Amino acid sequence: MGGVTVRVPAKVNLELCVGPPGDDGYHELVNVFHAVSIVDELSAEPADDVSVVVTGTGSTYVPADDSNLAVRAARLLAETAGVDRGAELRIRKSIPVAGGMAGGSADAAAALVACDALWGTALPRDTLIELAGRLGADVAFPLLGGTAVGRGRGDKLTPVPVEGALHWVFAPAEGGLSTPRVYAECDRLRAESGERVRTPRGAEALLAALRSGDPERVGAVLHNDLQPAAVSLRPGLARTLAVGAAEGALGALVSGSGPTCAFLARTEAHAADLALALTREGVCRAARCAYGPVPGACVTTDADLCPSDGDV
Ligand code: C5P
Repeated sequence: MGGVTVRVPAKVNLELCVGPPGDDGYHELVNVFHAVSIVDELSAEPADDVSVVVTGTGSTYVPADDSNLAVRAARLLAETAGVDRGAELRIRKSIPVAGGMAGGSADAAAALVACDALWGTALPRDTLIELAGRLGADVAFPLLGGTAVGRGRGDKLTPVPVEGALHWVFAPAEGGLSTPRVYAECDRLRAESGERVRTPRGAEALLAALRSGDPERVGAVLHNDLQPAAVSLRPGLARTLAVGAAEGALGALVSGSGPTCAFLARTEAHAADLALALTREGVCRAARCAYGPVPGACVTTDADLCPSDGDV
């Protein structure tokens, strides 16, 4: 068999509620993932061993050795399925690196899907999801795509119905933020303020807003418990969020552990206006328009149309 190409979406968290840390260092979450039309492309070619080459936006910051999560995903799949072959992985990055949009996790999910097809292992989706959960808390969602609530570490997923499309603008920041560092800062800020941290509850108001198809209702309930920590580590994000809100975004929040900021627009045209305003105000180098929800990682052929993510 020849090569296989997989396209995989970025995510934004529409609601991220963080509980206290457990003994394993992970926090209990209620995490509403939403897949958006900013996609990485991963191709897998037959080879004797597993290797990776990374190109595209921010690729110089992605490790191209055995620590790359996509390489670890391919090796885990080979070991699980008893496959004695390798794959040459090529990743074309478009998802911001270390940006809070789960780009590394998306590439790992894409590697599972690509190698499963390349090696003809045809594992059940549930097995791929279980392997994804072993690789990281955010790896299972890009297999599913759409919108889903994650509980536990965030990897126990339940799909969520969404009426219509949501139009977004993403403002990537210079440099990334380390996810463990942001969680640690969240714990530190909470300890400092004496806040009593509760076990996170459901996201009922958001789920009802998503069913309604009214972006204004969705915008009003977007929430991220990690935002104060991300802003504490990157104070400049406060201005980015304020500019988006002043320009009429229905909601403005840090995406996941940041530093990318996400803005919900009324329509596609409004998203284009917002992106221009954010870029003009100099709060980010190139704001990017996208929409969601979009499907999860899937094998593509040359004839497939690429969901384009408009850089401004
Ligand atoms: O699972 P993953 O490697 O993506 O997680 C990265 C880091 O994020 C973890 O090492 C941990 O510090 C933090 N994390 C957490 N609680 C979660 C998910 C992630 O503390 N539920």
